[in-house]
Amino acid sequence: MNERSDKKALFRRLETEIDEILRSSRPYEEVLQAVCDLLKESVPHYDWVGFYFVDPKNGNELVLDPFSGEPTEHVRIKFGEGICGQAAETRNIFVVQDVSKENNYLSCSPEVRSEIVVPIFKDGEIVGELDIDSHRINPFTDEDREFLEKICEMISEVL
Ligand code: SME
Repeated sequence: MNERSDKKALFRRLETEIDEILRSSRPYEEVLQAVCDLLKESVPHYDWVGFYFVDPKNGNELVLDPFSGEPTEHVRIKFGEGICGQAAETRNIFVVQDVSKENNYLSCSPEVRSEIVVPIFKDGEIVGELDIDSHRINPFTDEDREFLEKICEMISEVL
């Protein structure tokens, strides 16, 4: 088994586990917390995992809740600010393999070296994002991207 097929096998297993979590009758908040915890505990290069949702009051700010990992001061982020805000504004997935090379970046911890942000859409509108920080440089591959996009689609279906 090489690293790539190991990663694929791990992501396949997690996709099944997340599907089960999403189908459970637990409250919505608990379900999303369980997804954060599972991703952080199971994937060695995921050191912080959280959801930001668009504030329905103004539609141009992201609010953090829930997350798994160290607390952050960035609990509310305006569209356009940082990697999260850029992903929200452009409605694109953002993969930053080395945060020291990104000018528009909000640091949560000096240990963070890279980040991936995947938007969550509902009825064509961005409603939130899944944000993952890693303490490694250059850890994210197409497998991560495809896996996380799939997870965000599954979450969108239960929102
Ligand atoms: N680094 C993010 C802020 C959120 S933390 O990673 C939890 C950004 O630049 O938007």
